[in-house]
Amino acid sequence: MNRHLLAALGLGLIAGPALAADGIGAGLLKSQCIGCHAIAKPESTSLDRLWERKGPDLYYAGIKFNKPWLEKWLQNPVRIRPAGELYARHVKAGDKEDVVDESGMASHPKLSKADAEAVAKALMALVAPAELVSKGAFKGEKVSMAMGGMFFGKLRGCGACHMAKPGFGGASGAELYTAGERLQGDYIYSYIKNPQQFDPRIWMPTLNLAEPDLQRLTGYILQLGATEAK
Ligand code: HEC
Ligand code: HEC
Repeated sequence: MNRHLLAALGLGLIAGPALAADGIGAGLLKSQCIGCHAIAKPESTSLDRLWERKGPDLYYAGIKFNKPWLEKWLQNPVRIRPAGELYARHVKAGDKEDVVDESGMASHPKLSKADAEAVAKALMALVAPAELVSKGAFKGEKVSMAMGGMFFGKLRGCGACHMAKPGFGGASGAELYTAGERLQGDYIYSYIKNPQQFDPRIWMPTLNLAEPDLQRLTGYILQLGATEAK
């Protein structure tokens, strides 16, 4: 019997052969991931908690990610937050501007194909609390990339913290040039509308954007991913 199955059995997760894959993924999450990621809503929302967390929260992974992206990334993790987690720990003063010090940034654990698939399945089952994301909020309309880029950059200032192209933009937020592949549209919409709903201490400002802005920015970010993937 392999160690995953043993772990899953130990956790009492296996109810029958059909559930074995779920049990393995959940077992891996508990044995290899919770040291750095919250897979249940943390009780504390203090700044210390955010400051000390070793990885992004995964307790709402099922309403955030696209499963095929998870499966791929877990086998070959590439950096999403250019300055690591949390960025302030890896940034130091340079001559002209702050620079990112990559020396303290470890590479992410890699999973085999089978483990990645099992874990992705378990992550997609983490949907609580579902009200974080309003289903159907993003209407899916096509956006002009020129117009979207202008709002993202100059008009709404998103580019100060996020990259829309590798190497272009701020480093304190997650890159968004792969967001179209990585994230669900309704999640992007809900996050932009109210980042503090996801974490009251996160340093992305709530910008009180009007509905057309939210639709336009969400569409633009999703299309960025699509252009990048070509
Ligand atoms: C040593 C700490 C550590 C461990 C262990 C770890 N991770 Fe991570 N994980 C991180 C960090 C740091 C990031 C942020 C990477 C980035 O932004 O480039 C991350 C990012 C992620 C992301 C993307 C999250 C997002 O919001 O962008 C997923 C999914 C993920 N990890 C899953 C897992 C799974 C599944 C496991 C267990 C098999 C695991 N991690 C184990 C530290 C860890
Ligand atoms: C002051 C910096 C800052 C500004 C300005 C900012 N963000 Fe953010 N943004 C963040 C941080 C920090 C996060 C959380 C990153 C994390 O999970 O580690 C975030 C998260 C996001 C996410 C979710 C990404 C993910 O992988 O979970 C989206 C989408 C997003 N921002 C879009 C925008 C848009 C659109 C704008 C402009 C209207 C904007 N942001 C302006 C800092 C910023």
